Amino acid sequence: VTAPQYSDAPPHSEDPPTVLDPADPAFARDPYPYYARLRELGPAARVSLANGTHAWFVTGYEETRAVLADPRFSNVPPRDAGRPKNDSPAQRARACLARHMLNTDAPDHTRLRRLTTAAFAPRRVDALRVRIEELTDGLLRDVAERLAREGSADLVDAFAFPLPVLVIGEVLGVPEGDRAALRDWTYRVGSPADALRPGAVDEAWTSLYAYFGELIAHKRRSPGSDLFSALTHDATEGGLDDGELLAMAFLLLFAGYETTMNLLASASLLLLTHPGELAAARRDPGRWPAVVEETLRHASPLEGTTWRHTTQDVDLGDGTRIPAGASVLAVLAAANRDPRHFPEPDAFRPDRYAHDATGRGPRAAPHAAFGHGPHFCVGSRLARLEAAIALPRLFAAFPTLRPTGGPDELPYRPGLLVRGPRSVPVTVA
Ligand code: HEM
Repeated sequence: VTAPQYSDAPPHSEDPPTVLDPADPAFARDPYPYYARLRELGPAARVSLANGTHAWFVTGYEETRAVLADPRFSNVPPRDAGRPKNDSPAQRARACLARHMLNTDAPDHTRLRRLTTAAFAPRRVDALRVRIEELTDGLLRDVAERLAREGSADLVDAFAFPLPVLVIGEVLGVPEGDRAALRDWTYRVGSPADALRPGAVDEAWTSLYAYFGELIAHKRRSPGSDLFSALTHDATEGGLDDGELLAMAFLLLFAGYETTMNLLASASLLLLTHPGELAAARRDPGRWPAVVEETLRHASPLEGTTWRHTTQDVDLGDGTRIPAGASVLAVLAAANRDPRHFPEPDAFRPDRYAHDATGRGPRAAPHAAFGHGPHFCVGSRLARLEAAIALPRLFAAFPTLRPTGGPDELPYRPGLLVRGPRSVPVTVA
């Protein structure tokens, strides 16, 4: 195996300027100036974190892709990470999730990945179109009622959060009657523990764990036409144990909902604050896919990938050496704003990804929002389909939709993994 090539960018000499606190609300809202400074130091830099640890952040586009394709960067968490501190049911549920395939390397990963890719075959994903349209329209009716009743609505709460959860419900074949519970548990496990009544988050973990266990048993007895039934069947044939299958159900839920929620929320916000781009997409519906791609680049829903860990010293080719045993974050949000690949990287310009009048393809490099290499997102086709259905329907249903309050005041979820506005309050003129 030849090691991937890294860039010939100049070596970096200084340490990054500050200790990074990912919980800082200002950083959560706009991490881009920090990443730009980091990138100036070199394509990878060692960052001190507020919790006293440090990690290597890879911010260059080429280097991010190279790292994600390089087997010397392992996805397997260090031994103790994820091990439950006690043996409560909620901890067992969390530990089960930690066994998912994003936390594995080849050959385990290859085996799990093959089954998942087969279940997510394009024809199966495309067959969800009509259901996604129906689910979108149902939610938009709720938004309309709320706007009529209260004069304003939160697009995250009423649209960007529930739609992906309902769609994952379709993917997993969760019966209609259980969808409200799925939505509630998902909401709770995604919330900070101190935002809800004591015990509410743990109860949701335990309920999801028990529910997915029963769902798998049910799929084995009477498989449906959903993607997860196909996966359960193939997994049983392919020798996956129940734990691996449970972890898969959790992974699909978590990998699929918050990312897509952020895509829908960020795209809505970008369009509301760039009326010219919204008008262009309304005039020419062929532009919607370009709006989706540019949102993925400009507001990458997954800010960084899951952590990688170096299995040996790695020379990046610019004088930077990442030592063995280091934690490494491939910062997709930074890679997607690398000025060496995206001119005017901070501008929201869907035309980068539009086809021109002669039908020639996009001028911009492919963004890295779905990752790269062996762990490239399994759900990218589904996420794109969902956004390309939901966004035009939202703006067609409410021609005079406008944001209330300035975008600079909106709270963002803290952390380095997922990024998106926590609420997008709107009204109709
Ligand atoms: C992996 C992004 C939606 C399922 C990934 C990775 C990224 C990503 C960057 C690789 C992470 C890494 O290398 O550490 C996104 C974005 C989405 C989205 C931006 C929406 C806008 C979905 C959906 C599903 C899904 C809808 C399924 C229902 C997965 C799975 C993996 C994955 C199963 C693990 C693949 C593996 O380990 O081989 N996603 N994702 N994603 N995604 Fe997505």
